[in-house]
Amino acid sequence: MRTTILKLFLCTILLTIFNCDSRSKDDFGVIAESAMVVSAREEASKIGVEIMKKGGNAFDAMMATELALAVVHPSAGNIGGGGFLVFRMANGETGALDYREKAPRAAEKDMYLDSLGQIIKGKSTIGAYAIGVPGTIAGIFKAHKRYGKLSVEEVITPVIALAENGFSITEKQQARFNSYDSIFKVVNGKDILFGSQTKAGDVLANPDLAEALKLLISEGADAFYSGTIGEAIVDRVQSNGGIITLEDLMEYDAVWRDPVEFEYDNLKVISMSPPSSGGICLQQLMGMIEPFDLDKYDHNSLKAVQVITEAEKRTYADRNFFLGDPDFIDIPVKEMTSASYLQKRMEDFSFEQATPVNDIAHGAIAGYESEETTHYSIVDPYGNALAVTTTLNGSYGSKLFVDEFGFFLNNQMDDFSSKPGEPNYYGLIGAEANSIEGEKRMLSSMTPTIIEREGEFWMSVGTPGGSTIITSVLQTILNVHEYNMTMQQAVSAPRFHNQWLPDEIRIETTTFSKAMIDSLRAKGYPIDLNRIRDLGRVDGILKLDDGAYEGGADPRGDDTAVGF
Ligand code: GLY
Repeated sequence: MRTTILKLFLCTILLTIFNCDSRSKDDFGVIAESAMVVSAREEASKIGVEIMKKGGNAFDAMMATELALAVVHPSAGNIGGGGFLVFRMANGETGALDYREKAPRAAEKDMYLDSLGQIIKGKSTIGAYAIGVPGTIAGIFKAHKRYGKLSVEEVITPVIALAENGFSITEKQQARFNSYDSIFKVVNGKDILFGSQTKAGDVLANPDLAEALKLLISEGADAFYSGTIGEAIVDRVQSNGGIITLEDLMEYDAVWRDPVEFEYDNLKVISMSPPSSGGICLQQLMGMIEPFDLDKYDHNSLKAVQVITEAEKRTYADRNFFLGDPDFIDIPVKEMTSASYLQKRMEDFSFEQATPVNDIAHGAIAGYESEETTHYSIVDPYGNALAVTTTLNGSYGSKLFVDEFGFFLNNQMDDFSSKPGEPNYYGLIGAEANSIEGEKRMLSSMTPTIIEREGEFWMSVGTPGGSTIITSVLQTILNVHEYNMTMQQAVSAPRFHNQWLPDEIRIETTTFSKAMIDSLRAKGYPIDLNRIRDLGRVDGILKLDDGAYEGGADPRGDDTAVGF
């Protein structure tokens, strides 16, 4: 935004005379001079930091943090799921790694439909048939092999100790274990390690997962894709009616991708490319918002919410129609992200009245369900920065637990469009571009993002939240860039979300006053106050003007920043 650049310029001049920054010390998150990890759990952030203190870099810390999250954050941290990495090296090199799950080779377009062509409820979300071929282990080994400094043994050994010694259950975790206990029993036919027997404050060890980690040290990723762990996965999946074979596992590979890169004001945004929709949607959103002087409207003011909401409607309509696995379909990326196209998309926007969703595209759908994914950001002492988002899809994925090795398998097949025009778990409608095919990757919303300012690393950010991920990442970036918030303030600030369909603005409890809600409704924006819930758990790292790093850890979860 032009006024932001002007403001920064004026502020730089005025700083020599007055102090323009009204933020106090308490407004900032954890500050560190050299390196930092911000993740969903303190234990995972600490392990990543310890690895860097031993001389490891961000990629060593990634392997350790990702595996530690599988131990201490089993609802989303995983070895049975997949994810995306976006990175920026100290020398400015950028890249992305796609370790998204794939459909098993026997998967078919109509596999979740009955004989009348209707979606069979639960078939793509619960149990063995919902599972995609996991990518996490291939991803962390591929990233580590190319860029890591320490040996796999040095990196994984502290995680084994964590799994063997256990971690303390938090209140939030206990509530989750309780609420999923009965479905764990139904899917697995027995009690599993996690459930209502675990209480807040108890120490929970996972020795079976420790055994899997030992095999990863001795045999590498092959232990998972062709060795003992792989055989256990196939046995567990097939004996519960699933279709993943050992060949599916053996053929899985993570893929290096070019990240999506674009400019916004004086920032360069680097985010995840397809099969995630995150980067392209962020580019569309920011491209549609940029011509408006957002900072003039105040944070979460009526006008700011209208501009962002209308950009979101148009972006999600495009997402649902055009995006899918680039190895299977052609995506008109250039056209979708050109300035002229984005300007045209916003031509019918007016501050007077909401654009009706049917004027953007057609459809009417059901509601949201819960979402579970996890994000972590890392900066290392060498100046490398990572943004990593990883997921089982729903909380605890398919709920199918590989007991021999102590981990859950994903339910990522639901991120495909089971039936074009029908909503998935997140209420997202899909089209042919995201239909099911053997070995295809399902479309994601994960948006691990790194931002440069004036050619230097500035921010690493991301969040869980299913379809709300993209809009939470957007608002966090805008909070810092447009509204001069600290990283911690930006992460903690209340958020809202619109995804075109269903036609509503979804808000967090504290987002808007009654007067604001009335004004939005009067302009034609439905808001359902019965569906209020948290939107994401954003974790981010910001490089401050003095060169130190500020970690912003989302207070909505158990998230923690650790640095040195
Ligand atoms: N499973 C959530 C996502 O990939 O967006």
